[in-house]
Amino acid sequence: MTNLIDIKGVTHAYKTPNGPLPVLDNLTLSVPEGEFAAVVGPSGCGKSTLTRLVTGLMKPDQGEVWLHGQRVTSPRRTVGMAFQNPVLLEWRTILDNVILPLEIVAGSMSRRAREDRAMELLQLVGLDGFEHKRPSELSGGMRQRASLCRAIVHKPEVLIMDEPFGALDAFTREDLWQTMHQLRAQEPFTAVLITHDLRESVYLGDQVIVLSGRPATTQFVMDVDYPQAGGLREIDGLYTSQCAEMLATLRDQIKIAQGRQPEAAH
Ligand SMILES: Nc1ncnc2c1ncn2[C@@H]1O[C@H](COP(=O)(O)OP(=O)(O)O)[C@@H](O)[C@H]1O
Ligand SMILES: [Mg+2]
Repeated sequence: MTNLIDIKGVTHAYKTPNGPLPVLDNLTLSVPEGEFAAVVGPSGCGKSTLTRLVTGLMKPDQGEVWLHGQRVTSPRRTVGMAFQNPVLLEWRTILDNVILPLEIVAGSMSRRAREDRAMELLQLVGLDGFEHKRPSELSGGMRQRASLCRAIVHKPEVLIMDEPFGALDAFTREDLWQTMHQLRAQEPFTAVLITHDLRESVYLGDQVIVLSGRPATTQFVMDVDYPQAGGLREIDGLYTSQCAEMLATLRDQIKIAQGRQPEAAH
């Protein structure tokens, strides 16, 4: 399997009035095509910075970022983004918000074809019937669903999400997790999800990457062996001993990343 994302020895520091602030330190990670990578790490360690490097919005001081065999040196159109705050445009309907990326990257596509494509996704996430509403008329969970549709409407090679479910209540969040799996089953894409929710990382990830404290480097990588063969993952799987063990391992790694030692095994 080829790697869709290859980050090789990336080091980066922000220039601040008090001198350079090292944020990433020789960070290496790769995501094979079609895989879902969940990235966790202490607050402020450099996770959002990492997303800016992958999308080409920033260039690292050292190291290389590769996307589908091409070195990233400028912003990429083949990347879809979703954030904690859905940033939908209030003067556009939900349908027109979802269509927006197509207006930018698919100039030759007819209005009708764009609408059909957007409606296909809105139906998939259960938002058909709301396409003519404005963002403020929808709940937070519905807005985030619309924002996910917008992020993948143009079939990006990779979807980068920076804590997209962080502002949602627990039940809405779990609904969105399931929607995420449905979307992937319908339209496979490669994904990088930044999250601070370990259950989310295990439920959604094929691999979970733990970053160290700042300056961040890849501290630990776990292949998720979800207790379910085939089909969509079920939330109940999170309550099995298999997941409990994975979560305990990740919790220990986060403690190390935060500069604390894990408790000794009993
Ligand atoms: N544009 C910037 N200029 C200077 N410092 C920044 C800038 N963006 C982020 N930082 C700092 O870099 C560190 C890492 O930030 P960030 O990547 O947002 O971390 P995370 O997303 O893991 O919380 C933080 O200490 C933050 O304050
Ligand atoms: Mg962040």
